[in-house]
Amino acid sequence: MDVEVAVIPAAGRGTRMRPATRVVPKALLTVVDRPAIQYAVEEAARAGASEAVIVVDLDTGHLVQQHFLVEGRLPGLEEIRIRPVVQEEPLGLGHAVWEAREMVRDRPFFCLLADNITPPGVDVLPQLARVADPDKSVMCLRRLSDEMLSAYGVVIPASEEEDAVLEIAGAVEKPGPKDAPSRLGLIGRYLFTPEIFPILEKTEPGVGGEIQLTDAIHELGRRGKARGYVADTDLLDVGTPLGLLEASVVLGLDRFGDEFRSFLKEVCGH
Ligand code: G1P
Repeated sequence: MDVEVAVIPAAGRGTRMRPATRVVPKALLTVVDRPAIQYAVEEAARAGASEAVIVVDLDTGHLVQQHFLVEGRLPGLEEIRIRPVVQEEPLGLGHAVWEAREMVRDRPFFCLLADNITPPGVDVLPQLARVADPDKSVMCLRRLSDEMLSAYGVVIPASEEEDAVLEIAGAVEKPGPKDAPSRLGLIGRYLFTPEIFPILEKTEPGVGGEIQLTDAIHELGRRGKARGYVADTDLLDVGTPLGLLEASVVLGLDRFGDEFRSFLKEVCGH
């Protein structure tokens, strides 16, 4: 399936990254030499998207927009059109995605959470497009450890996994190890059909009083319209201080190679 549009929610204020995010939006925190959100836009462009709908908040959205639009196009991103949309109130991730409906219209779309960066040389969006069916949304999944079951959405499988693909009957947001219906977690990469928009419109606030994307995925699953693709690699999570540091090391090693590797060895004492 060819997917021409990507939705990138970037309205989160980054409470886990305070004080860095008191003024600077989370999406603009630097990883090596570019803001976190630029990695997501580059990934969408590599997967063939020609439009990136970035959902920003009212206070800092103009900064995100300026990053992409000042002084012409960023090198490597000449082929992708950046289209900002403002989420006026912080009502949750599901609501942020819903805000993109008028720009997406009736097209299937990738959704990328900018907190998660794919490691160098790893791309999962082409796999989601490969296993897509015009009628079904595809979620990228990973097997989670116990601690992670409280930090991620977790799916209810409806079939056995075959060649990394399975059907999904529903999903639960951050269930914790006791209530988790499986160990397969949603890791921030999705390929949705436009059927998600009317579902999001009716989705009531869930965990944390927020309109949860996971609850809309649950409804897709209930209708038999959700599929999972189990990725064979973890994404880098830049939404926490330790994760940001780890991502900087992984991407720094890729960028600077032996020079940085020797520095790390020296710091670690061997
Ligand atoms: C969000 C989603 C959750 C998903 C996670 C992936 O949570 O609500 O379902 O598993 O992203 O990173 P957040 O990290 O914004 O709390």
